[in-house]
Amino acid sequence: MREFLLAPSLLSADFARLADEIRDVTAAGADWIHLDVMDNHYVPNLTVGPLVCAAIRPHTSVPIDVHLMTMPVDPLVATFAEAGANSISFHPEASLHVHRTIELIKSHGAQAGLALNPATPLAVLDHVMDMLDFVLLMSVNPGFGGQAFIPETLDKLRLLRERVDATMQRTGRPLLIEVDGGVKASNIAQIAAAGADVLVAGSAVFGAADRAQAIGRMRDELDTVKVKESASTAAMK
Ligand code: DX5
Ligand code: ZN
Repeated sequence: MREFLLAPSLLSADFARLADEIRDVTAAGADWIHLDVMDNHYVPNLTVGPLVCAAIRPHTSVPIDVHLMTMPVDPLVATFAEAGANSISFHPEASLHVHRTIELIKSHGAQAGLALNPATPLAVLDHVMDMLDFVLLMSVNPGFGGQAFIPETLDKLRLLRERVDATMQRTGRPLLIEVDGGVKASNIAQIAAAGADVLVAGSAVFGAADRAQAIGRMRDELDTVKVKESASTAAMK
């Protein structure tokens, strides 16, 4: 039975109160803190750099998951790792040498993830899948919070689930699927059932007046998927 991890994205948090926001979602059961790094080049938006990662690091013990939407990627890897990032993902279009960038992230002791835009084919995973710790599947186009989930992502996610399961069986190594963009209580169960392990949610958590309640609702929805999966496993025995 798969475990589901919730990763609130700080993109929709109150940046004047980041430490409080992180404390709230950590206390409510957030598994990872997702930090969206945008450079006004690879994506139109501009957010935060390693200084903010280092500033929030002492305020939580859960992993900080840095999603780099920057071009180039490599010059930022060491500084984010030193700033306390536990995992670092990047977009293949933004790196000239994808294999080298993955090696670079891992050489700094962070988990490495490849982030796939909605139009990026799963084929970019060929030849690097065995090195990765996770695949980040974008379910919106990168750059902004609060966008609607792109429904075509679900079919892509099911295909990715099959590839990831086959890879894990062959390598014996864990490999997670993270889904990012437009995730909310009303669709989280469907996304989890289609194959996600880690669910990123920005506006659905930080847009809610009560962050704990928002996380609680998502966790309840995820619990229904666990029940269904264990029921189908039991039926197969
Ligand atoms: C988009 C970011 C997402 C975003 C998700 O470029 O990568 O992490 O914050 O926000 P919501 O959950 O509001 O779609
Ligand atoms: Zn993100």
